[in-house]
Amino acid sequence: MLISQLCKEADFTAPWFAAACSKLREGFRYHRKLWEWCYIYQALRERGALMPFKRGLGFGVGKEPLAAAFASFGCEIVATDMDVEAAKAQGWVDTNQHAVALSDLNDRGLCDPDQFNHLVTYETADMNRISDRYIGRFDFTWSSCCFEHLGSIEHGKQFIVNQMNCLRPGGVAVHTTEFNLSSNEQTLETDVLVLYRLRDIDWMVQTLKAYGYKVDIDYTVGTGPIESYVDVPPFKLNPHLRLMLDRYVSTSVGLIIEKPK
Ligand SMILES: C[S@@+](CC[C@H](N)C(=O)[O-])C[C@H]1O[C@@H](n2cnc3c(N)ncnc32)[C@H](O)[C@@H]1O
Repeated sequence: MLISQLCKEADFTAPWFAAACSKLREGFRYHRKLWEWCYIYQALRERGALMPFKRGLGFGVGKEPLAAAFASFGCEIVATDMDVEAAKAQGWVDTNQHAVALSDLNDRGLCDPDQFNHLVTYETADMNRISDRYIGRFDFTWSSCCFEHLGSIEHGKQFIVNQMNCLRPGGVAVHTTEFNLSSNEQTLETDVLVLYRLRDIDWMVQTLKAYGYKVDIDYTVGTGPIESYVDVPPFKLNPHLRLMLDRYVSTSVGLIIEKPK
């Protein structure tokens, strides 16, 4: 099954979505962040990445449950996030979205604790300066809701291209971000948050393809009643597949990028 790239109402009623929620011990709700986690999980499962001895690298993991879920399959995981002082300055610590200890990543008990401690390591890593020590070492990489926070549209574009160097031949990268449904011209770009337009995502797709990577992309926008609802501040959060950010309607988009063998 090929999952679509934009957060869609139909995904929430698909069997793969229920299976992913169950694995991640997430209650069902129409929320784009839940879609991002389930999307990453499903994309990696479909490509055979979640198997014993496969090596995964997570960027900006915060307190997401994915590292523990992947380790429960026997994957060796390097979970990374930015330096805690920098994260505090950007508000990620106050909003409980930054991991300070390895055990934070298995607080739902998704992985047997001994297996988790054996397979998962936590490291500080700046997505804007990917360390040479990660180059060519991983079967998969992922990030959820992160590369829109790197300082500019350009920083996110460079991250998507650069992180491919961390993969071995045959590896797969899955990354989600925020997508501007209102305009392909005007957008939001601040130091802490950017909103990617179709043309920015398309730049990434074309650049990745020029390197010889495989990217499946489908920008079809759904028209169902739940996905047509736009949550506005103060957010009600369910449904929350589309939200108003500044003056733009946004949703989530994902990229699945495969490196040839
Ligand atoms: C919205 S939170 C998402 C956290 C987690 N991925 C999730 O889905 O819950 C954004 C994350 O990006 C991280 N981050 C922001 N800038 C970063 C950078 N330059 N390098 C690494 N991580 C960064 C933050 O520390 C935070 O964990």
